[in-house]
Amino acid sequence: MAGSAKTSTVWKNPLRDERDKRVPRIAGPCSMVIFGVTGDLSRKKLMPAIYDLANRGLLPPGFALVGFARRDYADEDFAAVVLDAVKAHARTPFRQEVWDHLAEGIRFVQGTFDDDAAFAKLADTLGRLDKERGTGGNHAFYLSIPPNMFPVVLDQLSEHKLAQPTTTDIAGRKPWRRVVIEKPFGHDLDSAVELNALVNRVFPEETVFRIDHYLGKETVQNILALRFANQLFDPIWNANYVDHVQITMAEDIGLGGRAGYYDGIGAARDVIQNHLLQLLALTAMEEPISFEPKQLQTEKIKVLSATKLVEPLEETTARGQYSEGWQGGEHVVGLLDEEGFDPQSKTETYAAITLEVDTRRWAGVPFYLRTGKRLGRRVTEIAVVFKRAPHLPFDQTMTEELGQNALVIRVQPDEGITMRFGSKVPGSGMEVRDVNMDFSYGEAFTESSPEAYERLILDVLLGVPSLFPVNAEVELSWRILDPVLERWAADGTPDPYPAGTWGPASADEMLERTGREWRRP
Ligand code: BG6
Repeated sequence: MAGSAKTSTVWKNPLRDERDKRVPRIAGPCSMVIFGVTGDLSRKKLMPAIYDLANRGLLPPGFALVGFARRDYADEDFAAVVLDAVKAHARTPFRQEVWDHLAEGIRFVQGTFDDDAAFAKLADTLGRLDKERGTGGNHAFYLSIPPNMFPVVLDQLSEHKLAQPTTTDIAGRKPWRRVVIEKPFGHDLDSAVELNALVNRVFPEETVFRIDHYLGKETVQNILALRFANQLFDPIWNANYVDHVQITMAEDIGLGGRAGYYDGIGAARDVIQNHLLQLLALTAMEEPISFEPKQLQTEKIKVLSATKLVEPLEETTARGQYSEGWQGGEHVVGLLDEEGFDPQSKTETYAAITLEVDTRRWAGVPFYLRTGKRLGRRVTEIAVVFKRAPHLPFDQTMTEELGQNALVIRVQPDEGITMRFGSKVPGSGMEVRDVNMDFSYGEAFTESSPEAYERLILDVLLGVPSLFPVNAEVELSWRILDPVLERWAADGTPDPYPAGTWGPASADEMLERTGREWRRP
């Protein structure tokens, strides 16, 4: 019959790409050069992650790891350093055959960053690896070094023709060159613009991979799955239903040993500018039209462009500095007595701010962001707190303990999601009390999650930039934060809070003024 032809709608799941997801993507032949290879990050995160990738079969046979540092190591000495780091910090079990193969591609180049001869040697080493190990002219340069060292290293890479490929393979394809940089990406908007220009002078933006390791965490990527693979949450993910959002990153550790990096930087620059604003962007953004890196970035840029501090800042922000106290049964010193810190330091170790996202979806919904060191315990979570039910047809005395519904994304350490809602207490009355419904990664999945750096290093080698903030995101994040940083620099000092507590009283007051309170995670 005319017109009766069946039409079928082809529905395409945006979270699924064309390949079979069960077949892992393996990087092509390449090398990774690490500058600052003797530092903590390299030892605790980068080297172990590279081994874990090799152990999972995700590195190609033609892979090489090149360390560059001042120390006078032979290749074997450096390999021994890598081996120690792997044994101490790798996530996956040690397998001799995996290590033996990886170790064959380990090289060391000794030199300082201003040493021309050392960079000539690096170029030579990479050329030889292309021949001996088949790394194919593909090289990633990981700058695990202080930003004031960037200019000299970038210039050296450029002068020694390492930043841009000069050859093609037999199929006429150019090999790739990429640079990986770690935060801090500047210390305010102006310095970030300057730094970005400097990096882009040598490496075009599409070859720059800025690490925000929070984006490499499984639970952070799961925000996208939660929001866009389900029908359940989107209808209530807006100002009609959401009262406010709390994004918390609390740490119990202090700052002993980190004065060089942290003094003068503080909690807002260290964590809010990058990790927490990225979490906000993923929580608040609109659905991207696909999961192509460009589309994801577009949505994050849109939401960051619409985000701003709520005024007046003296009422909507708080900062603190830990003083001596008790943590885990141990007496710990305050920041001013930590080794290396200026005894007059005004650096904040706790920061809380209020943001609003000026879009139709989020109009009037405050986003509270807080982070701190030496707090009650280590926890990172995003709590979407819903408005109260418009009417409660119960005897008020029976609902006294009823809070607001909440959906809590537990980023770490107890990874999962909690839904909090009211439930009838068993018995003959109609008493309603809050209960939690939990999804826990540990129980739902048998496989343990890869470390953030495994995912991010693999993506660098594959050339997939979805999980790396671009220039525009970094600059927008500074634009959001700059006014409060300027204000804090201009007057006052951080409010003290004893180590082991949940921050200064001023942070509690900041929320109390709006009739709300911080969750005790
Ligand atoms: C880093 C900050 O980016 O993140 C540190 O510079 C902080 O100050 C660290 O301790 C926390 O990372 P994670 O993955 O342990 O939450």
